[in-house]
Amino acid sequence: MTDAGGRASSIPLIGGGEEPTLDRFSTEGRRASGFPPLDVPASDIVLPEAADRPPALPEVSERDLVAHVNRLAHRNFAVDLGAYPLGSCTMKYNPKICDWAAEHPAFRDLHPAAPATLTQGSLEVLLEIETILCELTGMARATFQPAAGAAGETTGLLIMRAYHKSRGRSPEMVVIPDSAHGTNPASVSLAGYQVLQIPSDRRGLVDVEALRVAVDDNVAGFMLTNPNTLGLFEEDIVEMAKIIHDVDGLVYYDGANLNAILGIARPGDMGFDIVHSNLHKTFATPHGGGGPGAGPVAVLEHLARFLPGPVPERIGDAIEWVQPADSIGRVHGNHGNFLVVLRALTYMRALGGDGLRRVAERSVLNARYLASLLSDDYQIPFPTPCMHEFVASAAALKRATGVRAMDVAKALLDHGFHAPTMYFPLVVEEALMVEPTETESPETIEALAEAFNDIAESARTDAEYLHAAPHHTPITRTDEALAARHPVLTWHMTSTP
Ligand SMILES: Cc1ncc(COP(=O)(O)O)c(C=O)c1O
Repeated sequence: MTDAGGRASSIPLIGGGEEPTLDRFSTEGRRASGFPPLDVPASDIVLPEAADRPPALPEVSERDLVAHVNRLAHRNFAVDLGAYPLGSCTMKYNPKICDWAAEHPAFRDLHPAAPATLTQGSLEVLLEIETILCELTGMARATFQPAAGAAGETTGLLIMRAYHKSRGRSPEMVVIPDSAHGTNPASVSLAGYQVLQIPSDRRGLVDVEALRVAVDDNVAGFMLTNPNTLGLFEEDIVEMAKIIHDVDGLVYYDGANLNAILGIARPGDMGFDIVHSNLHKTFATPHGGGGPGAGPVAVLEHLARFLPGPVPERIGDAIEWVQPADSIGRVHGNHGNFLVVLRALTYMRALGGDGLRRVAERSVLNARYLASLLSDDYQIPFPTPCMHEFVASAAALKRATGVRAMDVAKALLDHGFHAPTMYFPLVVEEALMVEPTETESPETIEALAEAFNDIAESARTDAEYLHAAPHHTPITRTDEALAARHPVLTWHMTSTP
């Protein structure tokens, strides 16, 4: 076999095996691009003092470069390749029309510091999506600066702090249920508050009586995800909101799971004051690998004056940037991740109001269908019907065969599916958190269930094989603890010309 650079090689070009670093393909003088003839006076490049020679960059043709990048891409699982039931993360197929809009040079090439007079079209985008998002959430105004859900949480909590300050108060605690996503307590600390944790009850919902007992006027607010991270709809939200409002606290909606209620229920109507939405999850941006994202924060009218600024506002015939009266200031160097916002607006427009409602209906239907197809080896610990995701427990399977949630998740990769979220939420033993999303067909849901059930079946005959899964991926079982504690994020170039 010869490699892409024409050298003898034992490297398979597609799929498994090691992909060499780009310098292996380097040939002196080879280029991936050319420059037009020089039409200005030539000048010598002066190397910085510390450099005694130019950097040893690989010299490759465009053809070899594209092949290398594509081979790397094929070593990874992706939303475009198959179902990605990573609970809580909403990793779904994103329609290509959204990327088409984001690639438009009028948007893509815009400088973030360009003045409002030259960027009226982009400001229209921001105003239009603000209107739609406020309609979907029952809020009045929104900021699109936060770059992800977690950044939205911190922003919302800083707005909460500014609200209390404006009333001459400085409560110190923020209430969070024990099923909350890890970013919630982290954001509480970042915003200078302390966490007051409330347990879940037998239904997997917030224990309202525990909340009532815990809340006093030192509580600044309550952060709630609904549907919660167990995939269950918090039924007592109106009562819980009253408990918090009675001590002048604010109720914060973690909208990471908004796809389950789009067009059906609105946080504003349930008593929430502040909402963040993960545009990259609920709408359309392939956000695997940690980005990019957008976590806009929407608030009720009386909180709009605290929003990060500036915000776009229509004044006469033009849209201008305006600073809200008591703004908490900027939470992003520019105006947020604009192209993620644009993708979300494209998705909203492509689907329309009915389409967005179907997102909610199908995400719930798919999750309930999948949960109903799983064998008895995976117990669903809470009786309440799930919304867009469910948490199953592999505890019985582990007791019977030694095969754990981790093994099941890894073995799914050998069946062509991404692993679900594991060991979260912490309130469920051997948790497998599964979110099939609205984009998968009934056939895919059935194939996924079959894979789960096959794995449970083979656990009884060959547990050892499952302990070592996955077997058919380019990278097999890794040391998770080591990978998390000592990530190798850079590659040091060792070869020199
Ligand atoms: C419930 C919940 N809250 C917050 C977040 C944080 O969002 P992000 O990853 O965009 O920061 C997530 C992410 O998955 C989530 O599931």
